[in-house]
This record gives sequence, C-alpha cells and structure tokens, in this order.
Amino acid sequence: MAVAAACFAAVVAALAVLAPAARGLDRHDFPPGFLFGAATSAYQIEGAYLDDNKGLNNWDVFTHTQAGRISDGRNGDVADDHYHRYKEDVEILHNLGVNSYRFSISWARILPRGRLGGVNPAGIAFYNRLIDALLQKGIQPFVTLNHFDIPHELETRYGGWLGAGIREEFVYYSDVCFKAFGDRVRFWTTFNEPNLFTRYQFILGVYPPNHCSPPFGSCNSGDSRREPYVASHNILLSHAAAVQNYRTNYQEKQGGSIGIVIAMKWYEPLTNSTEDVRAARRALSFEVEWFLDPIFFGDYPREMREILSSNLPKFTPEEKKLLQTNKVDFIGINHYTTNYAKDCIYSPCKLDTYEGNALVYATGRRNGTQIGKPTAFDTYFVVPEAMEQAVMYVNDRYKDTTIYITENGYSQHSDTSMEELINDVERVNYLQGYLTYLSSAVRKGANVGGYFVWSIVDNFEWSFGYTIKFGLYHVDFDTQERIPKMSAKWYRDFLTGSSPTDGLQVESRRADS
Ligand code: BGC
Repeated sequence: MAVAAACFAAVVAALAVLAPAARGLDRHDFPPGFLFGAATSAYQIEGAYLDDNKGLNNWDVFTHTQAGRISDGRNGDVADDHYHRYKEDVEILHNLGVNSYRFSISWARILPRGRLGGVNPAGIAFYNRLIDALLQKGIQPFVTLNHFDIPHELETRYGGWLGAGIREEFVYYSDVCFKAFGDRVRFWTTFNEPNLFTRYQFILGVYPPNHCSPPFGSCNSGDSRREPYVASHNILLSHAAAVQNYRTNYQEKQGGSIGIVIAMKWYEPLTNSTEDVRAARRALSFEVEWFLDPIFFGDYPREMREILSSNLPKFTPEEKKLLQTNKVDFIGINHYTTNYAKDCIYSPCKLDTYEGNALVYATGRRNGTQIGKPTAFDTYFVVPEAMEQAVMYVNDRYKDTTIYITENGYSQHSDTSMEELINDVERVNYLQGYLTYLSSAVRKGANVGGYFVWSIVDNFEWSFGYTIKFGLYHVDFDTQERIPKMSAKWYRDFLTGSSPTDGLQVESRRADS
C-alpha cells in the first residue's frame, strides 16, 4: 500500500510540473484568490430603456434614429431584459461557480440628465438589488462606470467626449456611484475600452455620435485625425479626476481598488522586415500606451506625439501631475485576437482602417494563410498564445501593477444552426487555449488577478445587433429563455473541478450530456 501511495504521489508530482495543456487545465493552475468571472455591460443586456425614469442615452437615440447602421436594425430596448431578470442571471452565475461578475452601470439610469438633473432613486435601487444579490451568493461585483453609453443630454450639451465640460459630469457621476455602492464594491473601473470606442466613434464613425472624415468614411461631421484624440484627452482627465476623488474620499474607508480597462489586440509583424517589426510595435503603442502611458508616465508615447503632431492635445504640467499621482491599482485587458501588422510609412497601403492613424495596416492573412482559425468577426482569429505575449508585455511595461483579463471570448454567427450554437466546441477550445496561455504567463511571474469570459449571455453586440453571439448561454430573444451552451458546462466543470477538462474529452462531450 505504502509503495502504491508513493507511486501515486510521484505521478501527481510529475503531472504537476507538466504544462497545463498537456495534463488538462484546471483552476489550480491559477493562484489562490484568483477572480474567475463573466462580463456584461448595461446597454447590451439590461433593456428596460424607459423604465423607472431612466434617461435616454446615446445608444438609445442612435439605434432609434439610425437603425440602418446596425446590422439587423435592432436595438437594446429589451435586449436580455436583465433589468427584470437579474435574479435569474445571478443564479446562473452562481451555478457556474464564478466568484466575480463584471457589469457596468447605466449612467442615464443613475443621472437621467447628467449632473444638472437629479439622481434617480430607482436606478440606485436597481444596482443595490443586483449588488446585494451577487454578494449573497459570494460573487464579487466588478463594476465598470462607463461602458460606451452616456446620457443623451451630455451628447447634446458637450458633444459627448469632445467637450471638456463632460469631465466634471463624469467625476460627479462616479462620485454618486462610490457613495451609493462603494461600501460593497471592491473593484471599480472607470472606463471600458476608451481606446476602442473613441476610434469607432470618431475615426470610423460607426458608433454614436457617428463622426468621421475621408478617407475613413463619410459622415455629416468629424475629423478622423483629430477628434479621437480630443475625446481621449477628455477621457483620460475624467478618469484621473475620478480616481483622485476615490483615493481622497472613499478608498481608505471602503477598502476597494480602482482601474481602467483597455482593449488589446496583439500584433505580429507581417514580414520580418525591420519596418514591419516596428509597425507591430507602433500598433501596440497606438493601442495600449495611448491610454496607459499618460496614466503611468504622464504623457502620450513618443511615436504618437511624432506621428500625430498637433492633432494630439498636450497635457499641462498640472494635468501630468494629476495623472501620475493617481495611478491605477490595476489594469484591465480585454484580449480577443491577433493580427499581422504591415508598415505604411515606407510602403503605400490602405489607411482608412482602425489602425490607420498609426500608419499601420492590420490583416489576419499572410500570403493567403490565416493567422489562426476564423471567428464570426472578420478581423478576429483564434491565436491563444498571444494571451501570454500580451500579458507579459503589459506586465513588463507597467511593472508591479495587477492585471485582470476583463474580457476574452469567442463569437458565433446567429445564422448558425441551433445545434451548432449550443454545441459550441470551438468556444470551448478557444477558452481553454487562451486560459492555458494565461496560466503560462502566471507561471512566468506575471501579476494577474483574474479572468472574465465575455459574455454570460448572448446580447446586443453594438453595430452587429443580435447577429453575433458571445454568450456561454444562448438566449431565445422571443421568450428570454437562457439555455446553457456546451461552453457553460465546460466553464462550470473547470471552475468547480467537477470533471476533467482535457481538450479531447471536451470536444467529444455533447451539450446535453
Ligand atoms: C466590448 C464588448 C463587446 C465585446 C465583443 C468588447 O470590445 O467591451 O462590449 O461586446 O468586445 O465585441
């Protein structure tokens, strides 16, 4: 018996040193206290767009007045009706075994007309109910203050993020939230992906207020080379002022932490030429350092200052100080995919794209071969190893700052058969692959505190309406029934350790098993 026990112990020890991919990934590949969760945002799931005195926001107005800009012409009026079904959704989260839930607050539900109107008690009450329901199940709320939506009134009054007046509005709004919910919220983030939404709003013009200029697109107004940077400047200063207020007036007594969430594609050089290698580096600079360098080092990265020149606003010495003395407690990274980067400084290329202002052309194809398996989004490919590279990059550049992977997920087309939607083997493989490389970054010393799948339920996918599905749960939008996909079962097994999660076994497991 003693010999058998010793052999068993040796096998266990040998398995423990194998890379997780080789022995099947499990929760214990991550440090104790690691947050595992799922993420959503208010406009994408809540619905109830006119209930209980909520004000109209920019997305309500945009989807109603410019339905043609949404793939299926639909909107978030009802979405997942989460506002009325939050209890069921909390139960779903609980059954999955997550210990955290990332959601955003609808600004227009709290302050229907911004700071000059009153606080809406029904809005406060809704988030109180949600937060309390989560805590009762042992699920930590991970709260985003701004996930793309702002009260419509602020769009009209300031031109949204283009007007400096919106800074005070954001500080006021965040203060209302810290005061109302901060006794129970340990994780705050100011903004979700300001580096993505400002590009969609002001370079490509596909998000409200739909501004752009040639060659990026034809909109009624806009300046694609200047406006995104005016908006980002106001966002950075709004962020810093909100963080300062939290640090000064709330953090000590409430004991929470505050950060910001950045969208982070990874870029590989298209060829091994020096120019393309630099292009990949530059694309990252225009993606990540655009927001994180001012927060950590007080200014935009050198390449941005050189290339954008007078289109990039300058920080005053006081603003630099405000930014640097209010560094974030953590960095949130939303990582989905990798593209190749091609240099456009020394060779001509198409510049009317997401990366155009960086003088980079990004593509998922090299000599006709894709960088990874395709997903429902044209530009998103499955490249799991980049999770490790992205995390190590941020970890090295912004040393000692905790990183949370605040979004990672796989998209399906709505015109896929129901059977394939539910038996989402590709999503399982995607999540398993990305988590494997995340655990590898952790083993190499990266300071990672948590991971959130996007998303718990299929939801309103912005310009794509309901045509793209990211949920672990399928939603029948006629009945609002939530149906677990294979990936929900896989995530639950992974989190609760209730069965092995080896890739091959997952592939052969059916959703109804
Ligand atoms: C956003 C989400 C979005 C997801 C999938 C992220 O850019 O934060 O709101 O649904 O990606 O596209």
